[in-house]
Amino acid sequence: MHNDIQEILYTEEQIQDKIRELGEKISSEYAGRNPLVICVLKGAYMFMADLTKRITIPIEVDFMAISSYGQSTKSSGVVKILKDLDVPVEGRDVIIAEDIVDSGLTLSYLIDVLERRNAKSVSVVALFDKPAGRKVDLQADYIGFTLPDAFVVGYGLDYAEKYRNLPYIGILKPEVYA
Ligand code: XMP
Ligand code: MG
Repeated sequence: MHNDIQEILYTEEQIQDKIRELGEKISSEYAGRNPLVICVLKGAYMFMADLTKRITIPIEVDFMAISSYGQSTKSSGVVKILKDLDVPVEGRDVIIAEDIVDSGLTLSYLIDVLERRNAKSVSVVALFDKPAGRKVDLQADYIGFTLPDAFVVGYGLDYAEKYRNLPYIGILKPEVYA
């Protein structure tokens, strides 16, 4: 598995340091509230687990699974909810935890859904951002790392469902795609 990686962009330690910072920031900005942190499955599962450990205020967690139709490495913007939230978001402060923002289409769809359900507030924490891929005007409220416009795997992110369990984020060797 490690042999398939061309370059490690951020190590496990760098990721954990960044997540600690994000957790501290969210904890202070949401002090006195009880936000619902929503994990967007599957890609954000690892980030969700590590981030919520670094949030020091009371929170609740929930999970949503979505799929976007189209090619496997590009978002089409047509999003389908495979698993919905267990709890209503009406009147709640909601924080969406995402692995990566690329075109922004998935998140803009999700934000729209949550706002139509009358969430009190909706913010986004994304561990990775690929601004070069953006198709809609969308900026996450909290961002871990800005990445170059390459397809990345590891730390929850997959290629054909593999590599999610790498503890770091890296670029796949081109021959793996072939
Ligand atoms: P959009 O384009 O809607 O996409 O912002 C967000 C979702 O697309 C996936 N994605 C990636 N997955 N390596 C991956 O493994 C990548 O480089 C990559 N770029 C986008 C991801 O599921 C994300 O939630
Ligand atoms: Mg995802």
